[in-house]
Amino acid sequence: MSEQHELKNRVALVTGASSGIGRAVCLALAKKGARLAIVGRRLDSLTALKATIEELGGEAFPLAVDLRDESGIKSAFDAVSRKWNGVDILVNSAGLGRAAPLSSGKDEDFREMLEVNALALAIVTREAITSMQRRNVAGHIVHVSSMSAYRVQGDTGMYAATKHAVRAMTEGLRQELRQAGSPIRISSVSPANTDTEFMDRMLGKAKAKENRPEYRQLEPEDVADAVLYLLSTPSHVEINDILMRPTNQPD
Ligand SMILES: NC(=O)c1ccc[n+]([C@@H]2O[C@H](COP(=O)([O-])OP(=O)(O)OC[C@H]3O[C@@H](n4cnc5c(N)ncnc54)[C@H](OP(=O)(O)O)[C@@H]3O)[C@@H](O)[C@H]2O)c1
Repeated sequence: MSEQHELKNRVALVTGASSGIGRAVCLALAKKGARLAIVGRRLDSLTALKATIEELGGEAFPLAVDLRDESGIKSAFDAVSRKWNGVDILVNSAGLGRAAPLSSGKDEDFREMLEVNALALAIVTREAITSMQRRNVAGHIVHVSSMSAYRVQGDTGMYAATKHAVRAMTEGLRQELRQAGSPIRISSVSPANTDTEFMDRMLGKAKAKENRPEYRQLEPEDVADAVLYLLSTPSHVEINDILMRPTNQPD
């Protein structure tokens, strides 16, 4: 069975679709014929992405959702079920960093990172599994994690804690699915520095520019290529993580 055939017409829900890695994943999947449920808060960005996907001959369904709101997540899954029956593929790309040292950071910054990067990812994943199981679909879930799931850099301990949580949830879910004899697969990709809006949003544009690394960063499309590879493996292969850095990133 060709890769093209496997992704064609499959319904993929992608969080973080409004920018960066999530957006690149949507475009890569649309080119392979998948139908895209695109999730983010910024409806203007989602609408623009839908137009781009349609220019490529694909289909997209924008869903403006704040992932910190569990009822919004459930409504989004209900809407996808009504439109396309349910979800076959989930890519969890939504996430953020805040400049919030563990010794002095703000409660709200801690909470936002934990709620979006870890809690929402768990809730969205549970809803996707429920949708796949209801229709007996051998679905695939991909978490966009981070090299921060493996190491802690300076004062970004809370961000790293959320990504360590993603790594633990990847392995925990793998064990649950295998114990249940489920055909659903769980994978993650753990990139290091990637050229997206991430640092602008974490530090503000001016500071992000000052701190921009001299080496060439990963492009969102590099990470999307890895996601596409994970999704195109045959059903007896489950890759649990891909660790990827810019070639010249020292840490
Ligand atoms: N860039 C890097 O260097 C890097 C490295 C390793 C891992 N990562 C991970 O890659 C993933 C994607 O990040 P990116 O680099 O592509 O950054 P980005 O361009 O800032 O994208 C982040 C995405 O998350 C969404 N998001 C944030 N808070 C949300 C909320 N409350 N509700 C719904 N959506 C929310 C944003 O959408 P809205 O603003 O429209 O809601 C946006 O689409 C994240 O999980 C990040 O931790 C990034």
